[in-house]
Amino acid sequence: MSNQSAVHQWRGVIEEYRPLLDIPDGTPAISLGEGGTPLVHSEWLSGLTGGEVWLKIEGNNPTGSFKDRGMTAAISVAVFEGAKACVCASTGNTSASMAAYAAKAGLTPIVLVPEGKIAPSKLAQALVHGAKVIQVRGNFDDCLKLSRGLADTYPVALVNSVNPVRLEGQKTAAFEVVDRLGDAPDYHLMPIGNAGNMSAYWLGYQQYAASGRATKKPVMRAFQAEGAAPLVLGHPVDYPETKATAIRIGNPASWKLAETARDESGGRFAALSDQRILAAQAELARRDGVFVEPASAAGVAGMLSELEAGESYAGATVVITVTGHGLKDTGTALEFFGDIPHVVIDSEIESAAAAAGL
Ligand code: F0G
Repeated sequence: MSNQSAVHQWRGVIEEYRPLLDIPDGTPAISLGEGGTPLVHSEWLSGLTGGEVWLKIEGNNPTGSFKDRGMTAAISVAVFEGAKACVCASTGNTSASMAAYAAKAGLTPIVLVPEGKIAPSKLAQALVHGAKVIQVRGNFDDCLKLSRGLADTYPVALVNSVNPVRLEGQKTAAFEVVDRLGDAPDYHLMPIGNAGNMSAYWLGYQQYAASGRATKKPVMRAFQAEGAAPLVLGHPVDYPETKATAIRIGNPASWKLAETARDESGGRFAALSDQRILAAQAELARRDGVFVEPASAAGVAGMLSELEAGESYAGATVVITVTGHGLKDTGTALEFFGDIPHVVIDSEIESAAAAAGL
């Protein structure tokens, strides 16, 4: 089970954790080697807080986001149950992941996305893996209604996180955190959109605490964008809007599960401006060498805004999940960056040295 040994080759989350997952016996693992992602110590955030802050870098998964953990489980079970096609609604990452695992499994992937509102790289992933990509005049919540409707009526497997098997796969991230740190952290911070991931982490932490692999469970804090903050407001948002398109969601499917995770852990939800999220994305890239997509920086932005408000993490162990890779949405990152320096020289060492300021 451990990934500490020099000779151990990571086999993907199903084979690494199969006895701990509630999936049918004998489910063949359709895997692209997901999971086993790095937990990187942040000197920057540890220095700021006086605690030990770790980043769980989920952009290192095969399709560049944490979705692959749940997708290996959902697609494996769908294949085991005889599915020929699968469907999901997505703000981009779920569709990229589903398309890849469906390709590997020989299923037909059908993707419903909000028209014009997903990052081009994510659309490219779905298309290149062979998905039928359908753009919907509406938002993610409309897409999810359609995808549920299709799965109710037609022979397609629904692989959004309303499918409980997805959470079984995604909870392995909490297992990995505990396996790596030796115990659960004091706090766990993350972005939240459709609310499956926070619910899955909480499942994982509870399971490890119940089995004695962890002595405690973390306080769970999850962060939304101000323009798409139904969990903070306590009611659905009809027209969610944020540059962090991955979490542009007005009516999260796992609302109740996430509230339970918040309440049982003594945690909370909070909202952040796009400006703050994008600033955190840029600072994380510059200071820690970790490039994440805008939504993925919400946990870091949340910590920075809490520190500003006088919150203390001194002496605490904190894990922040950064959910997806920066290469998923370079457009938004560059827009925030501003003017791109255009330095052109003749091919001469002196010119290069002068341009570099040496
Ligand atoms: N971060 C990223 C990069 C995401 O893509 C998502 C969700 C979240 C955070 C929020 O996770 O929904 O479990 O609360 N993306 C979904 C998608 C909705 O379709 O790719 P959550």
